Amino acid sequence: MRMGMDYYPEHWDRSMWEEDAKLMQDTGVSLIRVAEFAWSRLEPTEGNYDFEWLDDAIDTFARHGIKVVIGTPTCTPPNWLVKKYPDVLPIDAQLHPHYPGVRGHRCFNSPSMRHYSFLIVEKLALHYKDHSAVIGWQIDNEFGLHECNCEHCNTKFRDWLKDKYSSVENINAAWGNVVWSGEYSEWSEITTPLGGNRAKNPSYLLDYKRFETDSVVEFQQLQLDILKKHCPNHFVTHNIWSYPMSLDYYKLGEKLDFVSLDYYPSTSPEKDVTSGYSGALTLDLTRGIKRQNFWIMETISGPPGCWMPMWRTPYPGFIRAYSWQCIARGADTIVHFRWRSAPSGGEQFWHGLIDHSNVPGRRYEEYRGLCDEVNRLAPLLEGTQVKGKVAILHSHDQYNAFQGQLQSDGMDYFENIKTLHRAFTKLGIMTDVLSENEDLTGYKLIVAPSLFLLDTALASKFDEYVKNGATLVVLPRTGVKNPNNVCWIQPLPGPLSESAGVTVAEYDPIGKDKNSINWNNKSYSCSQWCDILTPQGAEPVARYEDDFYAGKIAATVHTVDKGKVYYLGTFPEESFYSDFFKDVADTLGLTYIPNLPEGVQVSIRSNGEKQYMFLLNLSRKQQTIQLEQSYYSVLNNKDIAQELNMNPYDVEIVELL
Ligand code: GLA
Ligand code: ZN
Repeated sequence: MRMGMDYYPEHWDRSMWEEDAKLMQDTGVSLIRVAEFAWSRLEPTEGNYDFEWLDDAIDTFARHGIKVVIGTPTCTPPNWLVKKYPDVLPIDAQLHPHYPGVRGHRCFNSPSMRHYSFLIVEKLALHYKDHSAVIGWQIDNEFGLHECNCEHCNTKFRDWLKDKYSSVENINAAWGNVVWSGEYSEWSEITTPLGGNRAKNPSYLLDYKRFETDSVVEFQQLQLDILKKHCPNHFVTHNIWSYPMSLDYYKLGEKLDFVSLDYYPSTSPEKDVTSGYSGALTLDLTRGIKRQNFWIMETISGPPGCWMPMWRTPYPGFIRAYSWQCIARGADTIVHFRWRSAPSGGEQFWHGLIDHSNVPGRRYEEYRGLCDEVNRLAPLLEGTQVKGKVAILHSHDQYNAFQGQLQSDGMDYFENIKTLHRAFTKLGIMTDVLSENEDLTGYKLIVAPSLFLLDTALASKFDEYVKNGATLVVLPRTGVKNPNNVCWIQPLPGPLSESAGVTVAEYDPIGKDKNSINWNNKSYSCSQWCDILTPQGAEPVARYEDDFYAGKIAATVHTVDKGKVYYLGTFPEESFYSDFFKDVADTLGLTYIPNLPEGVQVSIRSNGEKQYMFLLNLSRKQQTIQLEQSYYSVLNNKDIAQELNMNPYDVEIVELL
């Protein structure tokens, strides 16, 4: 477990490196990430590699006990490369190249891009494979999907489709191209989406997204293979951007040693409490990519800006508390972005830890204290993991399918996951947020938000979990389509109807209008969607209170062997989830913390022998928590009372016996 800094030696005069390295060492920093945008310095002209400056920088930091992660610079192809080999540039929907200036100007399928990336990564790998300070690699920077319509992408897309469907006739059948005369008679008629108007065939658009992910994964794999070949003792990771995301992070993460996350919680006072909860979800999602601990490769150390008017400066305690939140949810190393604010370039005002003044200030002092704490507790926390008690399912495919076809005004797949996850976080119940393709054996409670695309294979997997004792919670828009994004011709929830013991007689996409449901003699408002249910063996548990379907069934429960399936036919307000999950937790014997104050989060890291409970007040308010007993805080080396008062952004870590 290390504390690290993103450092850009190429932004500073060499005379500053030594001073920076010394101050970092004094601060407790033992790692830097370098070079991920430095291609024009590493290869100033074609084939002329210059690593002397990077050697010097790495050696300077190494002399201060600081290890190094090298970022491969392929997110920023230099000007000579794009000028000489224009196929490097992605082509937008108007068939214009995306010119350099703002990074990310590379087509993942461009032969020149792949060739020159291969060369520079190989040179770097061979050069640094035995350097004692270099411990690992970050490939590229924050991959994402950026539609490219170049000839190479067109050819590769057709090849991808040939692999999947063999013939255009099969595509016509699988996508239902008969509608609007969309049938293809030969391969050359198929193109990239040129902007991908949402009214285009959804099956085509979804397959294109999958193709885009595969292109990124292939591009990454090219680098991964070189790095693994020459540097077998180094780890290889990638720093993902946040959620929601079209790029399938599960596929991206498959071959990496671990995943890293760039984490920028909002500093806005209005988002004071919500950003902690969305952050908790982001961290749980990241841990779920490979079902293992992860790194934070960038996180906030000053007011962000440039891409938007600057955000508020992190409130006292914010930098520290949010770093602990990352560790509390499975991060093993925290790298802050960045040591000092950039003197020039597009991100001058995305502030680093130290301002342009170059005078370490309040944020620096807070960070220094954090380094002391993390370094002191690292031996205790090393090897500990986070294990959730509840599984919430997430899928980039479902997200992309919903993004392509908005279901009702305000219905948002990812926002709904946030609400569900927040309800658990507020109850102090840790969740693992996992791909629907994972093995979920062992979870007593599985929450499956809107399995829009659902085939019988996936449905029977859920049947099995339920028969073996799991409780499954299903939400509206489940079982609507097959994985090709074509509607099932059968009552909803399609392949899950039997285990849910219910069918949808009619639905009302009410969007931002409101209805309400009555559950356990209490009324809860609901919106977005209303399924009117007909039980087929299930018991009604909630009814609508309004509109022409007042009194009709809104939610059911079906007992199947040892387990149960709840079908919730609408999206109720958050307090419903809170009451409902408490009720389910009681039945399943899952413990929760009633009355956890807003903004206070609790989680546990354990290694089988020892358990450490993290208590975080991620809010600007003083909060009081009722604990089961008094504890000793290993973080602050003091006893903490059963009735614990926490100041804004306070953190406590206790060892559970
Ligand atoms: C991302 C990038 C960084 C930097 C930060 C701040 O996370 O990876 O290079 O641009 O955002 O904007
Ligand atoms: Zn392309």
